Amino acid sequence: MKEVVLNHPLITHKLSILRNKNTSTKEFRELISEISVYLCYEATKDATVYDKVIETPLTKINTKVINDDDYAFIPILRAGMSMVEGIIKVIPNAKIGHIGLYRNENTLTPVEYYYKVPLNISKRKVFVLDPMLATGGSAIATIDKLKKDGVTDIKFLCIIASPEGIKTLKKAHPDVKIYCAAKDKCLNKNGYILPGLGDAGDRVYGTK
Ligand code: PRP
Ligand code: URA
Repeated sequence: MKEVVLNHPLITHKLSILRNKNTSTKEFRELISEISVYLCYEATKDATVYDKVIETPLTKINTKVINDDDYAFIPILRAGMSMVEGIIKVIPNAKIGHIGLYRNENTLTPVEYYYKVPLNISKRKVFVLDPMLATGGSAIATIDKLKKDGVTDIKFLCIIASPEGIKTLKKAHPDVKIYCAAKDKCLNKNGYILPGLGDAGDRVYGTK
């Protein structure tokens, strides 16, 4: 399954500000939120719609609606939380679960510290959220957990993906479609995306 890369001058412009090391915490958060809305727009292009009869001021029509309740967002803590604010505005009644993972700095493998997902998670369309897909370890560990809980409909939404991360995630979970705002060049020897934007969690929360 081919990954979706948002290819649009507005996104390129916003990414240029996001990547800039001098961008403020406030603007960084706002841009992650905004770009997440565009990712969600792409990821819901094939959304299931249901028939509904409504009355306009002039006439009665058969129209279509989505059911917010179908959706669950699973941000990968910490940085994934920054994507929730934007997309919850466009699917306001979606349920939200959390998985806490951090990368061991030496091995680059994810260490889990929290997992709580909404009721009936196996029946929902799940969007896993994380700004960075680097080695792919965190995304794969999250999707492994969700599949163990019976989830079958999963999409992965990120701001920046590395080619290595995309390849590894696709190999582990070929059924999971990946949506990113940019596909960058490569990983450096410390597992950071180049050119990337640095450590997303630290930039969102101002911790370094
Ligand atoms: C970052 C990022 C991803 C992970 C990506 O989180 O937000 O979760 O690294 O790397 P991977 O694809 O190689 O697994 P980090 O582990 O720094 O935790 P944080 O969000 O708490 O800062
Ligand atoms: N995690 C980040 O936050 N940034 C990277 O470039 C890689 C992993």
